[in-house]
Amino acid sequence: MCGIVGYIGFREAWPIVLKGLKRLEYRGYDSAGIALMNNTGQHIYKKAGKVAVLEEFAAAQDKSGTIGIGHTRWATHGAPSDRNSHPHTSNNHKLSIIHNGIIENYATLKEELIERGHEFKSDTDTEVLIHLVEEIQKIEQIDLMEAVRLALQEVSGAYAIVIMDQDNPDRLIAARKGSPMVIGVGAGEYFIASDATPIIEYTKNVIYLKDGEIALITKNDLLIKQLDNVVQTPLIQELELKLEMLEKGGFDHFMLKEIYEQPRSIKDCMRGRIYPQEGKVQLGGIKEFAEKLKNIDRIIIVACGTSWHAGLVGEYLIEEYARIPVEVEYASEFRYRNPIITEKDVVIAISQSGETADTMAAIEMAKERGATIFGICNVAGASIPRLTDAGVYTHAGPEIGVASTKAFTAQVTVLTLMAFYMAQQKGTITTSKLIELLTELDHIPEKVELALESNDLIKEVSEKIKDSTNCLFLGRGTGFPVALEGALKLKEISYIHAEGYPAAEMKHGPIALITEEMPVVFIATQNSSYEKVISNIQEVKARKGKVIAIVTAGDTEVKKMADYCIEIPDANEAFLPLLATIPLQLLSYHIAVMRGCNVDQPRNLAKSVTVE
Ligand code: G6P
Repeated sequence: MCGIVGYIGFREAWPIVLKGLKRLEYRGYDSAGIALMNNTGQHIYKKAGKVAVLEEFAAAQDKSGTIGIGHTRWATHGAPSDRNSHPHTSNNHKLSIIHNGIIENYATLKEELIERGHEFKSDTDTEVLIHLVEEIQKIEQIDLMEAVRLALQEVSGAYAIVIMDQDNPDRLIAARKGSPMVIGVGAGEYFIASDATPIIEYTKNVIYLKDGEIALITKNDLLIKQLDNVVQTPLIQELELKLEMLEKGGFDHFMLKEIYEQPRSIKDCMRGRIYPQEGKVQLGGIKEFAEKLKNIDRIIIVACGTSWHAGLVGEYLIEEYARIPVEVEYASEFRYRNPIITEKDVVIAISQSGETADTMAAIEMAKERGATIFGICNVAGASIPRLTDAGVYTHAGPEIGVASTKAFTAQVTVLTLMAFYMAQQKGTITTSKLIELLTELDHIPEKVELALESNDLIKEVSEKIKDSTNCLFLGRGTGFPVALEGALKLKEISYIHAEGYPAAEMKHGPIALITEEMPVVFIATQNSSYEKVISNIQEVKARKGKVIAIVTAGDTEVKKMADYCIEIPDANEAFLPLLATIPLQLLSYHIAVMRGCNVDQPRNLAKSVTVE
């Protein structure tokens, strides 16, 4: 939520900050703004709408300056508008700030500041913070870094901020708590951003600012302190990210590129972790806990959104193979209940971004209550992998499209590996069975490739149903979370109302909605629930519903009933989610494109949700 970029050095700041904002636009895209400093002072450009609107607005204006800060917003406090866009300025207009996060006690602070004569120009919590910094500096007569440090001790909430000062045009102050921030280290220049994507083309050397740290950055120097004033020695790390990973590579949208990357991303996720000939799974990230896994009482999976759907697949697989009871919880609900957690529980937190506020809070609570915490995360070095005791990265590569695709299949792959690993540790699976399963899993990327070959057919089906207002997705077993994920994809990018249901539950409600107008997508592959799903298809057909079925290649039964059949290769039931998800991703993609929707940046959504 919200992307921030800062630059200080010898180059023109505008193009660096603007390009950085475009890279971060997946984090929020309802308004954008940039502040630049040059020898005539501080200049601020901000506009509601996407970064491109800001670019056009400032096209003919002077944009010189070698220090700059920029922001792309996902509104929390105050509607998306020019005046609520960041950067915000202090009362005397000399200080400007960009902020990602929420200042929770802003209302009380604002009242006090108004009493002291401050006038506010926006409805945001952020503006309150910069007025507070100015007020503290005025009263205490201290330098800016110290004033920011003291101000941050008065606020509650989450933030990643960068502040620029007209009276000190050679420095930027940055700080974070609960929202991410990376500092790129160049020769005579520094880059600041919410993630490394705006930095990668200039330097590979980065410092991940830690929670509760504040930095004073000049073009040649960097000082990092904790909020309690203790100076820190920064750890410079080398980025593994490559620039090509952040580009569309000939595809029309990031989402399509990411869908097509799945044979590769699933393979990367398994690399060095499966040994089919020996019937062995190795997960280096959790091996320290190998013994503990033999005696755990329960696994609790916490996650949000698509990651929660991956968790549901994990529940089926872990219970089936490792025979450990699993509960799957929405992190946002779990954290505010008073759940029973013991030291014999393992909590698995799943998060693509590694930043989701609710998932982080759920981890912290479970940690306090003594559980062991594993993370499944895509972004290396993000907050969640730092909070957990151990974990497994998904290695899907940067996912830019807001709707998650390759990150989901990579999460499912990791959970499949975890299920087998736990089964191996507990002795609930034989080596010969593992040899059989891992040999098949090893070839799943090729089967995903085959599933992608239905793209043209899926496009034709999309054309037929693109004008629907509602759509139902039904499946059983692991087909149920796949149905949930299919419905989520469709609703988030095409704005068609869609619901996922366990197929058998249809008769307890959704069946009332079925008419000739209603497409019903079935996961009807040949597995243990095949016959039952066929009965459910008949129930829909009897009510004239339009059936689109995902079937196993060569199927003849469902073909007799369904209006459209999309084939996926035959596979063991355990691997069904990795294959059946593919056509559903393509279906939602094509429908959204046909409806003229912004596929990569659907309205109101953000890729990483750092507010609760
Ligand atoms: C947002 C994203 C989803 C994602 C969810 C959880 O809603 O748009 O794609 O599934 O957050 O995010 P996480 O990064 O924790 O997986």
